[in-house]
Amino acid sequence: MAARHLITSALPYINGVKHLGNLIGSMLPADVYARYLRARGRQVLLLCATDEHGTPAELAALEAGQDVAEFCRLQHQIQADLARRFHLSFDHFGRSSSPQNHELTKYFARRLEEHGLIEERTTRQIYSRADGRFLPDRYVVGTCPHCGFDGARGDQCENCTRVLDPVDLLSPRSSISGSADVEIRESRHLFFKLPALAPELRTWIESKTDWPSVTVSIGLKWLDEGLQDRGITRDLRWGVPVDRPGFEDKVFYVWFDAPIEYIGVTKEWADLDPARDWRSWWFDADDVAYTQFMAKDNVPFHTIMFPATLIGTREPWKLPDFIKAFNWLTYDGGKFSTSRHRGVFMSDALELLPADYWRYYLLANAPESDDADFTWTLFAAVVNKDLVGVFGNFVNRVLKFTASKFDGQVPAGGEAGPREAALFAELDGRIAAYQAHLEALSFRKALIELRAIWAAGNVYLADLEPWKLVESDRARAAAIVRTALNLVRLFAILSAPAVPEASGRVLDALEASPDERRWPADVRTETQMLRPGRHILPIDLLFRRITEDETAMWTARFAGQSSSPVASAN
Ligand code: 2FM
Ligand code: ZN
Repeated sequence: MAARHLITSALPYINGVKHLGNLIGSMLPADVYARYLRARGRQVLLLCATDEHGTPAELAALEAGQDVAEFCRLQHQIQADLARRFHLSFDHFGRSSSPQNHELTKYFARRLEEHGLIEERTTRQIYSRADGRFLPDRYVVGTCPHCGFDGARGDQCENCTRVLDPVDLLSPRSSISGSADVEIRESRHLFFKLPALAPELRTWIESKTDWPSVTVSIGLKWLDEGLQDRGITRDLRWGVPVDRPGFEDKVFYVWFDAPIEYIGVTKEWADLDPARDWRSWWFDADDVAYTQFMAKDNVPFHTIMFPATLIGTREPWKLPDFIKAFNWLTYDGGKFSTSRHRGVFMSDALELLPADYWRYYLLANAPESDDADFTWTLFAAVVNKDLVGVFGNFVNRVLKFTASKFDGQVPAGGEAGPREAALFAELDGRIAAYQAHLEALSFRKALIELRAIWAAGNVYLADLEPWKLVESDRARAAAIVRTALNLVRLFAILSAPAVPEASGRVLDALEASPDERRWPADVRTETQMLRPGRHILPIDLLFRRITEDETAMWTARFAGQSSSPVASAN
């Protein structure tokens, strides 16, 4: 077992508030895993940051009428605030535009060059006179030279799916300004000679027999198709400058510096406290287990580009030990769309309901082995059935009954018998399975088990009916309620990685000490923790039902506007 766990979530792009698909595709599962490992007493460093460079950031700033640095500063604050309100327990939420990342990015480029992996070349690119800038491939539109489709983007024709070079488009124009006042200009760029590292990358990926198939298959597909030299600089202002004569107006490509920010953010975190050592997490760090979380579109950069950057230095940098990749979360049968305001974004979600409702639903329906679809009907059904009907019902029922029949105290008298023994055995088994699923990063399976744990509590009460027994056999009723109160505590602790806010409310109502909040041992011991006579505070409804009216209203509200002509990155 590794002594320390480094966990990173894919870095959310800076150009706007992220949607639920982004949340479940990286940030949320990373948080749940970190919370679980911390609860088990492991040393964890959970890091994330905003990914701030590149053309989409520049264009979003332009649209907002803000200087790009100021735009990023504000958007970073918005995303950091949303992360906090979603209870994403990052040890640090950094910025890829930090001085630390600038320095590291330049360092890696230098090392790669020292090992003969960088080559300077002349490229031919579309320059837009109207926009006063070189156009990145996907901001050039024109007629496809293969099929004649007139709306083809410079990187790929949407009609015939052929990969294009923007200089081959007929009648090219800028999709930023719409202007056809463009020309082909030459520009010097740095290329990363990835093919030289292909054999090492293949050996590395093929050694990862326990990785999700989506991770391995995408990585190997890139290798099978043959790696190409990859341009790692761009004609832009906003980014990490390339300190090299003739490159004064250029910066590193955003996908070169973004993954390096995983190291950059470690440095940002360490720079806040002299007792922290960033290097020990990354350099010669054999005692560290490094887990990355991301959606499948990010996999090529994390199985090829970033490891190549690390390996190419010929220094002992830490490679990811596990890459957990997710499929897509769709919204009501289609795509989430930022430009069309289609789907639920993190800020919308918190306006409607507390974070735990979303966290639970998204984890229980995570796009793990396949794509998953968000629908309001399913969301309402899952919340009403699982959170309200199973977990909330158990907690509220037990606490209310304790207040009304036992003076709000853990009752004395009676003792556990064979029915309890059977329940404890069932729970011990289920808790072991729950832990195993979390260790294996199988979130759906983990949540099925968590729900079954809650349900066992309800079945126990329904079988024994302490509300009836309290009249005929008060001692037996007391033993049942005492057991149930202890299960409330146990369930709250087990649920904390998924629904930390509700869990905290329950443990606060029990006035649980730090020792009473630690991860459970065997269930029999755990159900002895809250002793007779102990006071239990009242608690409001743990979760509330979602009504049919709300479901209808929200379905209409988030359906999005009809298609907009503006091209969108997501
Ligand atoms: O897909 C995205 O939103 C990217 N910003 C992810 C970057 S992950 C890492 F490499 F920075
Ligand atoms: Zn075409």
